[in-house]
Amino acid sequence: MMEGRGNRHALVLPYPIQGHINPMLQFSKRLESHGLRITFLVPNSDPSSLGIDAGSIKIKPISDGSDTDVVTGDDLGTSINAGMRRFEIKVRESLRGFLESDEYHDDPADVMIYDSIISWALDVSLEFGIRGAMFFTQPCFVTAVYYLVGQGVVRVDEKGRSVEGLPPLMSMLEFRDLPSFVAQGEAYPGLTRIFFEQFSNFREAKWLLFNTFFELEEEVVNWVANQWPLILTIGPTIPSLYLDKRLANDKDYSLSLAKPETETCINWLDSKDPDSVAYVSFGSLASLGEDQMVEIARGLKRIKKNFLWIVRESEEKKLPQGFADEVSGKGLMVRWCPQLQVLAHQAVSCFLTHCGWNSTLEALSLGVPMVVMPQWTDQPTNAKLIVDVWGAGVRIKADGTGMVTAEEVEMCINDIMVEEKGKAIREKSSRWKELARMALEGGGSSDLNIQKFVSDISLRA
Ligand code: UDX
Repeated sequence: MMEGRGNRHALVLPYPIQGHINPMLQFSKRLESHGLRITFLVPNSDPSSLGIDAGSIKIKPISDGSDTDVVTGDDLGTSINAGMRRFEIKVRESLRGFLESDEYHDDPADVMIYDSIISWALDVSLEFGIRGAMFFTQPCFVTAVYYLVGQGVVRVDEKGRSVEGLPPLMSMLEFRDLPSFVAQGEAYPGLTRIFFEQFSNFREAKWLLFNTFFELEEEVVNWVANQWPLILTIGPTIPSLYLDKRLANDKDYSLSLAKPETETCINWLDSKDPDSVAYVSFGSLASLGEDQMVEIARGLKRIKKNFLWIVRESEEKKLPQGFADEVSGKGLMVRWCPQLQVLAHQAVSCFLTHCGWNSTLEALSLGVPMVVMPQWTDQPTNAKLIVDVWGAGVRIKADGTGMVTAEEVEMCINDIMVEEKGKAIREKSSRWKELARMALEGGGSSDLNIQKFVSDISLRA
């Protein structure tokens, strides 16, 4: 489609962490292929720190007022809680500044697609006469849990570790399966607040966009569709080339806050047999205790297969000394990888994951069965869904002290990769891959919703 001034223009505003930038950038790319022009606003004081590969999507850094805005796993609670207020004040100011600028006036937008955890962006957007589309980077199921807790329908007793008032479709949840900001809301007040604030003004949004697909969350999507504004499932936001080899020209864009060691990873995977590698990653934020890292290292050393483990720079010091040499040939550790390429690689057939929603959706969509080891935020709930609802993984169990032992790591990975009992899980995973592909191909549930969204935007407000 021809690009230019005549095309509809969307502003996209993610919260600037990897797990939110990725799906919103990939979705932007899909919208662009439907003829929209995109300006991708990234709250960041140091644009040069962004590894930008966004093709024709215009990246517009807007100041967040700090020089150290990229949140890392170190001292996460303090940095996030202290940073949330500053973020809101500064980014609100920058966003208003941008919307008042000549640059914006010369090229105004038809819609603002904003991250659900920046709910106040809708107020700014409406003030400037721009319609809002709220983008959720977590599953519909988890969002519905927050909603019901906020409404007082679901009641959580943190001290008694109990939960009451769950509707039938959530009755499988136990206290330990709740999002951590619900189960231990007081630990991260800044974050807990923004997850509940998602609903402060959401009825004024014109569209609610979920990075999920209908077939995966059918029951809860139907349930909330009766109570919420227009909800559109548009995921997975994974580039089609990973879902369907025939679409190899569909480019993968990334705006990576860490530099992937692509060649090292892919060359190493190419040297391994099909289905012989367990991939291990805890995402961009989670930070494990040193003892836990040592147990995982010992467990990976014991597995019958190979492993590729993402150990971010801030985590490296927790590895046992000399570990890389001890496992040379069988195991590779890198700081960051091109995860989609890794999960799509024929050598990879198991994912030990923290169950971040992107990792979960990427594994489901690429048919890779999971060993689930949730850490915080939505991950406990995602883990429950992966194992007990979607049948696509096994749960790793902690011992009485909360530690996951080396033996447990070994057993769970072997269960998935080697043992007969992993067969049903492997089959289920393949089925989800098929359903994800069908959701996105022409006439599939997500494809139709994206088409509807694009045609809605084209109608004047
Ligand atoms: C955060 C939250 O922790 C998560 O629970 C929430 O659902 C989304 O935001 P994060 O912890 O980083 O994200 O996990 P995840 O959602 O899995 O996102 C990580 C992203 O980084 C994925 O898209 C993954 O493909 C990518 N990644 C990860 C890489 O590209 N390379 C890596 O080496 C590791």
